[in-house]
Amino acid sequence: MPSVFIKTYGCQMNERDSEAVAAQLVAKGYSLAPSEAAADVVLLNTCSVRDFAEQKAINKMRNVIGTARSERRDQIVGFMGCMAQSRGRELVEKLPDVDLVLGTQKFHRAAEYLDELLAGKRAKIVDTAAEAKSEAAIREHLLNGSAKTAVSAFVSIMQGCNQHCTFCIVPSTRGEERSRTIPDIVAECRELVARGVKEITLLGQIVTSFGRRDIPAVGRAGSPLPAAMASDAVTGAHGGTRPAISAFVQLLNAVHEIEGLERIRFTSPHPKGYGDDLVEAYARLPKLCESAHIPLQSGSDRLLKLMHRGYTREKFLGIIQKLRAVQPNIGLYTDIIVGFPGETEADFEQTMSLCRAVEFDNAYIFKYSPRRDTPAAAMENQVPQEIREERNHRLLELVNEIAARKYDAFIGRQVQILVEGPSKKNAARYTGRTRCNRIVLFDGSPRHHGQIMDLKIQRTGSFTLYGDPAIVNL
Ligand code: SAH
Ligand code: F3S
Repeated sequence: MPSVFIKTYGCQMNERDSEAVAAQLVAKGYSLAPSEAAADVVLLNTCSVRDFAEQKAINKMRNVIGTARSERRDQIVGFMGCMAQSRGRELVEKLPDVDLVLGTQKFHRAAEYLDELLAGKRAKIVDTAAEAKSEAAIREHLLNGSAKTAVSAFVSIMQGCNQHCTFCIVPSTRGEERSRTIPDIVAECRELVARGVKEITLLGQIVTSFGRRDIPAVGRAGSPLPAAMASDAVTGAHGGTRPAISAFVQLLNAVHEIEGLERIRFTSPHPKGYGDDLVEAYARLPKLCESAHIPLQSGSDRLLKLMHRGYTREKFLGIIQKLRAVQPNIGLYTDIIVGFPGETEADFEQTMSLCRAVEFDNAYIFKYSPRRDTPAAAMENQVPQEIREERNHRLLELVNEIAARKYDAFIGRQVQILVEGPSKKNAARYTGRTRCNRIVLFDGSPRHHGQIMDLKIQRTGSFTLYGDPAIVNL
């Protein structure tokens, strides 16, 4: 049977899609090749969020084709994922040696199409059509093969996004919001837990909008709120009674019931999805890890409006305050864009001051990249490249300085980690994550694999904490 090599660009959704395609091919008898040179089939799972990511994948494909042409002419090469979806046939016009272009609603057809290409029944396949129910087709898992059980797994709960932020290409590459059903997702999570998984991350482009058109919110009026939320200053208008529970929080509740599952995470949420029901879930559900990656994008109300983000600076600060009221040690992460069209020095200062106020544990900063057919790409006052670079640099310095301070504050603290396995760089070291999503290294052994353990942080490295389990037990 043929062998396949898949290279992934971009976000965790793409990682998950690649894993599902690999699992699908392995189930059909394919083996996983250690490198692209050794593979019968090479697939590049692409990202379109910024131009740089597209260029990287195109250059890689040129490289692969260059090698394949001289060494093995029968190798099948293909693009899949977001750039495959947004550029479609244009990719085979640009690179005529590409055999397959597989859109974001077609991952489950990879095996069928590769069979046809390998058997010579078809010379080229481009399929970027929409397909009903494709959101429920990403469900096979590889779990690192049979030798080592994966401790943590990703589960795709929805596809697409209807928010249409003016800078973002995702609504066109991933399509309209489509959600799986709660029983279907819970069944997949149960299977994973039965195979040894302890931590599940629920994935989607805008998970907080999960099921909002198909699953009605349910009321829990009357029951009291947790003490930390009871004051009106924290909860806002509804005055101490529980809010209606959104479809997303209903899903969290259902996944939380799974016996043997230890931890739940999710990504990516949208700030407008942090209603009181979700804040309250952080207080109520012990398996829901106290960590959140909440994309901010800008600290300026004027820019947030131009970006079509649907919240204000005040609203964002309010969410952070509520989350910290119920979980003071919550790990807070964010995404920020610098150099959005029309961003003035005063707008940028608003972003800087919001970062100083919130003190994110870490922030991913992106220089604005115009994307085809998005409203922002056609806006006037595009910010010159050197100003984007300069603001990127200034914000990065601030974010890193705050992040380093927050890392150092861990020294001497006791944390609980889930051990994921040996560290890639040093096999004598084991690695795990705290509930607030920080990586911890310690001197471990195979018996620690998959354990929840307490340890004390002794020192910090770059974006890593070093801990010792022995000290806790003294
Ligand atoms: N909620 C989505 C966001 C996808 S894009 C998800 O995680 O799937 C991830 C991040 O890339 C965004 O939060 C934004 O900060 C950044 N980004 C998106 N479009 C961009 C653009 N045109 N230029 C620069 N950064 C962008
Ligand atoms: Fe993109 Fe905004 Fe949706 S950043 S994925 S359009 S929430």
